[in-house]
Amino acid sequence: MRSGGLPIFASMLSLLFFILALPTSLGDVSYSIPEEMKRGSVIGNIATDLGLDAKLFSSRKARLHFEGKNKRYCEMNLNSGDLVVADRIDREELCGEKILCVLKYDLVLENPLELHRVSLQIQDVNDNSPIFQNDEIKIEIQELTDKGARFPLDEAHDADIGQNAVQSYTLENNDHFVLAVQTNTDGGKYGELILEKELDREEQQEVTLLLTAIDGGTPQRSGTVVIHVTVLDANDNIPVFSQDVYKVSLPENSPLGAVVVTVSATDADEGANGEVTYAFSRVAEKAKKIFKTDHKTGEVIVTGPIDFEEESTYELRIDGKDGAGLASQTKVIIEITDVNDNAPVIFLQTLNNPIPESALPGTEVGIINVQDKDSGVNRQVRCSIQQNVPFKLIPSIKNYYSLVTTAELDRELVSEYNITITATDEGSPPLSSSKTVQLSVSDVNDNPPVFDEQSYRASVAENNKPGSSVITVKAIDLDWRQNGTVFYSLLPSEVSGVPVSSFLSINGDTGVIHAVRSVDYEQFRSFKVHVVARDNGSPPLSSNVTVSVSITDENDNSPQILYPAPAGNSFMTEMVPKAAHAGSLVSKVIAVDADSGQNAWLSYQIVKSTDPGLFTIGLHSGEIRTQRDISESDTMKQNLVISVKDNGQPPLSATCTVYLLLSDNLAEVPELKDMSFEENNSKLTSYLIIALVSVSTFFLTFIILTVAVTFCRRKKPRLLFDSAVAIPSAYFPPNYAEVEGAGTLRSSYNYDTYLTTGSRTSDFRFARSYNDGTLPADQTPKMSPTESSDQDVGNKSGSINSTLVNSFIFCQFFQKRNV
Ligand SMILES: *[C@@H]1O[C@H](CO)[C@@H](O)[C@H](O)[C@H]1NC(C)=O
Ligand SMILES: *[C@@H]1O[C@H](CO)[C@@H](O)[C@H](O)[C@H]1NC(C)=O
Ligand SMILES: *[C@@H]1O[C@H](CO)[C@@H](O)[C@H](O)[C@H]1NC(C)=O
Repeated sequence: MRSGGLPIFASMLSLLFFILALPTSLGDVSYSIPEEMKRGSVIGNIATDLGLDAKLFSSRKARLHFEGKNKRYCEMNLNSGDLVVADRIDREELCGEKILCVLKYDLVLENPLELHRVSLQIQDVNDNSPIFQNDEIKIEIQELTDKGARFPLDEAHDADIGQNAVQSYTLENNDHFVLAVQTNTDGGKYGELILEKELDREEQQEVTLLLTAIDGGTPQRSGTVVIHVTVLDANDNIPVFSQDVYKVSLPENSPLGAVVVTVSATDADEGANGEVTYAFSRVAEKAKKIFKTDHKTGEVIVTGPIDFEEESTYELRIDGKDGAGLASQTKVIIEITDVNDNAPVIFLQTLNNPIPESALPGTEVGIINVQDKDSGVNRQVRCSIQQNVPFKLIPSIKNYYSLVTTAELDRELVSEYNITITATDEGSPPLSSSKTVQLSVSDVNDNPPVFDEQSYRASVAENNKPGSSVITVKAIDLDWRQNGTVFYSLLPSEVSGVPVSSFLSINGDTGVIHAVRSVDYEQFRSFKVHVVARDNGSPPLSSNVTVSVSITDENDNSPQILYPAPAGNSFMTEMVPKAAHAGSLVSKVIAVDADSGQNAWLSYQIVKSTDPGLFTIGLHSGEIRTQRDISESDTMKQNLVISVKDNGQPPLSATCTVYLLLSDNLAEVPELKDMSFEENNSKLTSYLIIALVSVSTFFLTFIILTVAVTFCRRKKPRLLFDSAVAIPSAYFPPNYAEVEGAGTLRSSYNYDTYLTTGSRTSDFRFARSYNDGTLPADQTPKMSPTESSDQDVGNKSGSINSTLVNSFIFCQFFQKRNV
């Protein structure tokens, strides 16, 4: 049991799949109605009869598809599902003599495609009276003809069929004839006059009779004809046709004048009595327009267009009459054979246009119906579409095809398809026709905006004008209309704690990024901002990109001199031993520039000096050195005005003054007082004020100075040195030591920084040696072994640390004052 379960389940599954995959044709419905119903009469309710829900008819695009020609005869009410008469239905016009008269419709429903046959059987109504071919029937009868002789009469014709067709004949009462009713091989009834009493031409030359044909309908209808019987002299033989029935087949579209068949009858009589002429007896109106018969030869000739689709058989009755009027009849049945003369016709039943690009493969796009009026193989049609499109035709029921997608569509690649459907029949030669369906693909928001570049770099010179444009970003979205309309915005973020929106703004439409305010390179050198491009679809798609903004430096900061402190508020003086040789380091100007690169590359120059030849300054180091040995004749007080200039465009500069004292002896310091104030002493008042302030603060500072002097005498000037020289780190601009980014200019900046601090270190080291009391007699300091590795830095030494000396000067200066 268990082992058998799986295959059974699988086969059930495949059966289920099979049922689902086939379009359903659940049931057919058939109605039978009398002809000539009034327009608007309800025949029946299709929905109820097929068990369908009429409410769904509209949404499923229900429609009746009629296989016939111009008229539809019936309509379907989409709301109620009623089948309603739309045109006059004349059974005789529709079906002629056919017993079964059926109108066939297809009820087509979509979603899913469903097909039902609706057939309408048209019942005959007795609305036609029997009619005789001619107004009168002329019969010529030999006198002395025997009793019992039979004379066939023209058949009356009733367009109705069955019971409503001609059923019987009656003959007006007379002396000579009685009527016998006979039945044809094809079921038609005709009368025969039977001679009951011999005619005597001399007695009565002509007999007139009234023949009435009666049909079997209710109420009955009838038609009459007058029979003129002419009594003739003897004529013994009637014409005899070679065949009772001539059966021929004729291809449709046979040319005019073609001979279809030749009937022939022979009459044994001689002369005029034996000469047979031929004429149509009873022939349908249609056939009369298409054929004629040659009186003499009996040829049946084509005189009109022969269309198989119009009529497939014709029946002609031909009388052969001899000169005396004796006649017999034959039947010609012409079967028209089909010729492949109708190309298939393609009907586009439904088209879902446009189709969204998101449609899954296999989505039904349209329904196509192909018809060919020919029959047999000429009617069999193959349908195809061109190869290079993502669509295919799936044959459905009865020449219906579904047009479905075979792949995913992409409007951005192909937005429109021209699908050519070709239908070819199997005739020989085959006929084909084609129809082009224009199908557009509608947009779905499936493409996010894409930026031109993966990331953007912009550079802004500092101090820029607010509102100036920084950079333009651009993103392209391939979608259509609003799905492809791109809006730009900045992603909120912070730059050093400040919202980025206070620096930059973006034009949502154009992508132009503007500066909101001016930026300061010294504050920060670069920052990043994210730009989002969003389309207008729903839901919208977006992408983002990084814009790195680097700020370029401008020379907007003058050099800042850290040492010596700016002129005016310091009287620091460097002491230079008289024994200093040429090239001795005397002092050093320390300056920084908040800018960077060339803008911060400082150069030092002596612009004014007491003795121009005595000192030089390192162009980039700021180190002041003696240019020659100091001689006794040199002025003791030396002032140098030094300009510090950066390398910007235009350069900015600052100046400072360095006071130098050429002396070995601290005792010479008193003169310093004069020197310090040398430039101010012209103003006596200033001097006096300073003096007063000095005196008044004297007592307050006395105790502190005493302690200081004690330090001095113990030769422990280190503390003083520290307080005097160590440049507080607060002196440096906050980002002075910050080294960020890379670039050739920056390295020079680094170098600059290094030099400055390096020099300071060397000074400091030298001071230690000095403190240890190892200063040799030539006053050239010796490196301690531990510092020899730093000789390259230390070789700047060669003079007594001027700052230390400066401290001593202070000590002594205040000592003196104290005294
Ligand atoms: C489809 O046919 C139309 C009209 O014939 C033409 O204008 C259009 O360019 C065609 N489109 C394609 C994709 O071939
Ligand atoms: C945009 O895309 C949506 C689906 O994402 C679609 O419904 C809409 O029709 C599209 N708009 C246009 C203008 O094509
Ligand atoms: C930016 O784009 C990346 C991928 O490109 C994505 O992962 C990220 O979520 C996006 N950020 C925002 C805020 O949209």
